[in-house]
Amino acid sequence: MIEELLPPGVVAVEAFHDLPDFPLYPEEFEVVRRARDSRRREFATVRWCARRALARLGRPPTPVLPDAHGAPQWPDHIVGSLTHCTGYRAAALARTDDITMLGIDAEPNEPLPACVLETIALPAEQRLVAELTGTAPGIHWGRLLFSMKETVYKSWYPLTGQRLDFEDATLTFSADSPRYTARVRIPRPAPRSPGVHIWEGRWLCRGGLLLTALTVTRNGTGHPEPNARDVALGV
Ligand SMILES: CC(C)(COP(=O)(O)OP(=O)(O)OC[C@H]1O[C@@H](n2cnc3c(N)ncnc32)[C@H](O)[C@@H]1OP(=O)(O)O)[C@@H](O)C(=O)NCCC(=O)NCCS
Repeated sequence: MIEELLPPGVVAVEAFHDLPDFPLYPEEFEVVRRARDSRRREFATVRWCARRALARLGRPPTPVLPDAHGAPQWPDHIVGSLTHCTGYRAAALARTDDITMLGIDAEPNEPLPACVLETIALPAEQRLVAELTGTAPGIHWGRLLFSMKETVYKSWYPLTGQRLDFEDATLTFSADSPRYTARVRIPRPAPRSPGVHIWEGRWLCRGGLLLTALTVTRNGTGHPEPNARDVALGV
């Protein structure tokens, strides 16, 4: 499903069940040695997804270890993102020759826990969520907004090394379009900032899941069918 949200050049592999005994590299196992079984299984299954995606990019299997802030570290010239939630695991990878920023996220299509929306959403986003909840109630718009913000973070941090707070990104979206706009207000200049601050991502709701993706291609577009709104609008 996630592949539908990604441009050519991005390889995505997903799983809807955990693999019982997928072998981790010793250094990967060390990361989750003390974790709950469920965490170990999701960690292993998403790395199975990553290894298959790497293979499809013509690259050998390799450990996928987190950096100090949890971001997966990829082989040279590879960019990628991982996600897992109940009933879903996915990896999306690409060559840095094609894609400069890549983030994916999956969430259950369920309400956010109480008070979370107020923590993660700006006032305008809260109004948008309230409006869409009234007009298109089949989708948990607050949870979708959360997923979009996670995707922005997962694509931005590995490129820049810069952490974002929830109020640093403003998301706009509607029930009529599979596209959303992410406007990132950079709190301070990032050493490797791509210099653009508005991107277009994609989302879908299917099978009880909300999926979001954000990619920026080497030529600066957010998706392979560029129009005026697709192109990152540098500020
Ligand atoms: C890190 C974070 C984004 C993970 O998202 P999540 O929805 O909780 O979890 P998911 O299962 O979808 O994704 C987990 C994967 O994200 C990846 N990840 C973790 N930290 C990351 C980071 N700093 N950058 C990129 N990817 C990261 C990891 O691969 C992780 O899987 P793994 O631990 O098995 O390797 C989230 O926990 C977090 O810290 N959010 C706060 C920051 C934020 O979102 N700000 C919003 C700014 S607009």
